[in-house]
Amino acid sequence: MKIAIIGTGYVGLPSGIGFASLGHNVVCIDKDENKIKNLQEGRLTLYEDGLQDLFLKVLQNGRLKLTTSTQAVKDADIVILAVGTPPHPETGEADLRYIYAAAEELAPHLTGYTVIADKSTVPVGTGDMVEKIIAKNNKNADFDVVSLPEFLREGFALHDFFHPDRVVVGANKPRACEVIKNLYASFEDKINMIFVSRPSAETIKYASNAFLAMKIHYINEMADFCEKSGANINEVALGMGLDSRIGNKFLNAGPGYGGSCFPKDTLAMSLMAEKYGVEMSLINRTIAGNKERKIKMAERILSSVQNIKNPKIGVLGLAFKNGTDDVRESPAIEIISQMLKFNKNINITAFDYQANENAKKILDNQINYASSPENVFDNADVVAVLTEWKEFKTLDFEKLSAKMHTKRIVDLRNILDEDKLKNLGFEYSKIGSFQK
Ligand code: UDX
Repeated sequence: MKIAIIGTGYVGLPSGIGFASLGHNVVCIDKDENKIKNLQEGRLTLYEDGLQDLFLKVLQNGRLKLTTSTQAVKDADIVILAVGTPPHPETGEADLRYIYAAAEELAPHLTGYTVIADKSTVPVGTGDMVEKIIAKNNKNADFDVVSLPEFLREGFALHDFFHPDRVVVGANKPRACEVIKNLYASFEDKINMIFVSRPSAETIKYASNAFLAMKIHYINEMADFCEKSGANINEVALGMGLDSRIGNKFLNAGPGYGGSCFPKDTLAMSLMAEKYGVEMSLINRTIAGNKERKIKMAERILSSVQNIKNPKIGVLGLAFKNGTDDVRESPAIEIISQMLKFNKNINITAFDYQANENAKKILDNQINYASSPENVFDNADVVAVLTEWKEFKTLDFEKLSAKMHTKRIVDLRNILDEDKLKNLGFEYSKIGSFQK
C-alpha cells in the first residue's frame, strides 16, 4: 500500500518506519525543513530505543521517503494524520489548528479513493470537521475519514507498534474498514482489531489515557497513606496487581505522571465533558493532585537538606520517564523548578542519559548538567532520583558514597536497593514506606 503520514513526531515517525518495515511504501511529510533534511540524511530527530537501525534499513531500501511537500499524498491509499494537538494556550482544550491545516492542504492533492486516518488525539467530532474541510477544498474527492487512535508509549514505540494491545478503528463505511484491515494485514490474526463508531474511537483514546493517569494518581495517594500508616507501597501494589481485574501495570508510585499525553489529555477530556455538561470529578481531582504532588516532592528533597546553608543537590534523571529524551511536562523539570523557586541558595547538578540537551532548552543555566551520573554525586548533600532509568540501579554506590558531602539519597522512583544502600551507610528515603 502507499501510505502518507503527516507529522514526524513521536507518533508519526515510529509508525512510518514500522509500516515501511512491513513492506508498505511510506512517505512521511513534515513542514519542518530542518527535520526533514536531517531525516533524509539518515539522522533520527528523536530518541527511541531500537529505532535507528530500522530507520536506516527502510531509508536505504527505499520503502521510506521524507518530504516537506503535502503534494506527496498523491496516489496514497491512506493518509495518516499524526500532527500535534497541544493544549490551547488560553483554553487548555486540544488545539486543532494543525489537524485542520493539514486537512485543508492535503485535500486538493487526493487522487482515487483515499482513507484519511486520524492518529492524533482529538476531541469527539473532529473527524466530522476534517471530513467537511476536505469536501470543501476538493469537491471531487473520493474519501472517508477514520479515527485510528494511537496508543504507543514513548520509549517503547517500536515494541508497541509491532505488539499493540488493540487497534481501534472508528469508521462508518465498510470500504474504509477494508483499507485499514489491509494496512494491518501482515499482523494476521495476532492483533485485536475492533470496529466502532468514530465518536467512540475518539473517546476511547481520552478515556484510556485519563484512566491510566487516575491509576497512577491512585497509587500515589496510597503511597502517601503507606508513609503514615506503616505499610509499604511496593508490597501493597504487588498484592493489588495480582488481582487480574486490577492488573499489575501502572502501579508504580512516583513523583507524579508527566509527558506529552497524560497532562494534556486529562485536561482536554475534562474540558470536553464540561462542554456536554458532564463533570469528570475523578479526572479533575487527578489533574489537581498530580500538580500538587510535584510541589510536595520538591519540598521533600529540600527538607532533607534544610539544615544546610547552601545545599548541593544532585539529580539523576530529567526525562519524563526512562527510555526517552522527552522532557515535556517532565516531573523532574517541574520538581527542579519548584526547588529553585523555594530556595534561591541551592546548587543543582543533574544528569540524564538522553534528555540533558532538551532540559537545557527549558532550565538553561539555572542548573549544572553533568556528563555522567557519577558527576552528580560530587560534594552533594543529597542525590534525588527523578527518572526511572534502570542504569541508575547498577551505579557503584560504594565508590560514589566517597564523593558525597553527605551520604543521602531521596529515591522518588523506588528503583534503588534500599538494604544495600543502608548497609553502605546511606540515609535513604523512598516513596510510600514508613520512615522510622
Ligand atoms: C502514554 C500512554 O501510555 C500511551 O498509551 C499513549 O499513547 C500516550 O501516553 P507515554 O506518555 O509515552 O504514554 O508514557 P507512559 O509510559 O504512559 O508514562 C506516563 C507517565 O506516567 C510518566 O511520567 C511515567 O513515569 C508515569 N508513570 C507510569 C508512573 O508514575 N507510574 C506508573 O506505574 C506508570
